[in-house]
Amino acid sequence: MSKYKIKNICCIGAGYVGGPTMAVFAEHCKDIKITVCDINKNRIDAWNSTDIKFLPIYEPELDTLISECRNKNLFFTTDIKNSIENADMIFLSVNTPTKLKGVGAGKASDLKWVEASARQIAEFSTGHTIVVEKSTLPVRTAKTIEEILFNSQLNRSFGDSKTFSVLSNPEFLSEGSAIKDLQFPDRVLIGGQDHKAIESLANLYINWVPRNKILRTNIWSSELSKLTANAFLAQRISSINTISALCEVTEADVKQVSNAIGLDSRIGNKFLEAGPGFGGSCFQKDILNLVYLCEYYNLNEVAKYWEQVVKINEWQKNRISKLVVNSLFGTVSGKKIAILGFSFKANTNDTRNSPSIKICKDLLDEGAVLSIYDPKVDEVQIENDLNILNFDNSLNNSQDSFIYADSIEQAIQDSHAILILTEWKEFYKINWQIMFKKMKRPAWIFDTRSIIDTKEVERFGFNVWQVGNKSFDN
Ligand code: NAD
Ligand code: UDX
Repeated sequence: MSKYKIKNICCIGAGYVGGPTMAVFAEHCKDIKITVCDINKNRIDAWNSTDIKFLPIYEPELDTLISECRNKNLFFTTDIKNSIENADMIFLSVNTPTKLKGVGAGKASDLKWVEASARQIAEFSTGHTIVVEKSTLPVRTAKTIEEILFNSQLNRSFGDSKTFSVLSNPEFLSEGSAIKDLQFPDRVLIGGQDHKAIESLANLYINWVPRNKILRTNIWSSELSKLTANAFLAQRISSINTISALCEVTEADVKQVSNAIGLDSRIGNKFLEAGPGFGGSCFQKDILNLVYLCEYYNLNEVAKYWEQVVKINEWQKNRISKLVVNSLFGTVSGKKIAILGFSFKANTNDTRNSPSIKICKDLLDEGAVLSIYDPKVDEVQIENDLNILNFDNSLNNSQDSFIYADSIEQAIQDSHAILILTEWKEFYKINWQIMFKKMKRPAWIFDTRSIIDTKEVERFGFNVWQVGNKSFDN
């Protein structure tokens, strides 16, 4: 099968997807020059920082890859024009958050960054360019991109021959295991019409992905598969979270239930962990986008079905904050509560849509004094997410602040309760006997990630609640 020659790749968007994905491409395609560009200068400076620990995102194994490839065949720049001009293939990895206002606000994806990128490509590209959708997009977005690119062709003076092929190649990586997911993907999906372009992209992946894992589909199936995959994954989490509540009142144990159902090969054992609700930049946004699409096509029952997955996720977060307040004799006002974990899952510094944000805000509204510890999330990020200042930075030292703790011990000292919200490895190793001595009495632990041995900590004197396992009434 004939292919286009690919010598230069450009990736627009140096975020959680663009950075790690291009690092893995660079590792496996040494003869290709890869340039990752972004409008955010601070982010690009961080990618270029000489001290590797200042990379803009935390992801296991990422620093090693960047040290190996950066300034050899992997470059980070704000020079978008030049990067596009030289590229044979351009990946679009820009953000596609939920629209905040206008038509479809609260559900549809905001495609303004995708459109802006397409216009930049239309303006600066030269010769034939393969444009690859890496961002997660509503089905039929490729049509919009094609229209922008095609119209730019029409506007051009005779003799100036720019041509394009548009492909969809959604990314399935999970944060916290991004490098492993990219190195050993379950599958690579390429959708498109131009077979020569599809084979050019497949030919890159063949450097490290087994051929039978590279799927070719039509472009709409590819776009829709990404939204569907995220909807199915999130649906499993909401499903098990509903069962967690039932377990708590019936003395069933959700871990045992997950294990029992997961052994059915038709169900499978992954994504059955009850928790504080799913977070991250993808699940909620992508389901709401699916809901919007269904409503757009008048499939209202289908829309309602998927919307319920997001509603249950909100319900789980609300039920946890209410449960904390009710357990502490109906009020947390003025009580210090230690929050362990702020990122939306372990092994990432990403806090987008983290359940911790909603739960912390609820507790702050109730007057709690929060002392927050997370090994990778810095205080500025927490200040931004909670929209309040850290106690030290708060000018009037008012109640509208939180304490940024540098260690688990500091967070827990003199607290009434501990709320475990992220499953960081170091939380599994806490010596609860010692922690108990640092706390006010009665001392409570609310374990939303099922990481503690409830029987053991009860012996030390704690009151314990664990998601899907232990309610105080049992
Ligand atoms: P991100 O916000 O971390 O990164 C996007 C970057 O694009 C930002 O740095 C932004 O400055 C840059 N950008 C926006 N417009 C630009 C323009 N016109 N020119 C140059 N740069 C521009 O987002 P992300 O988490 O990397 O996600 C990117 C896309 O990938 C989204 O569509 C998301 O749904 C999808 N996705 C994300 C994940 C994930 O785990 N984060 C996984 C799979 C797919
Ligand atoms: C998700 C998809 O997994 C990935 O394929 C897609 O490309 C992007 O969106 P991500 O959001 O990075 O990845 O992480 P993921 O591991 O899916 O976790 C999402 C949220 O669900 C986290 O808050 C996590 O703690 C929660 N979760 C996950 C559970 O509560 N229970 C589970 O069993 C699994």
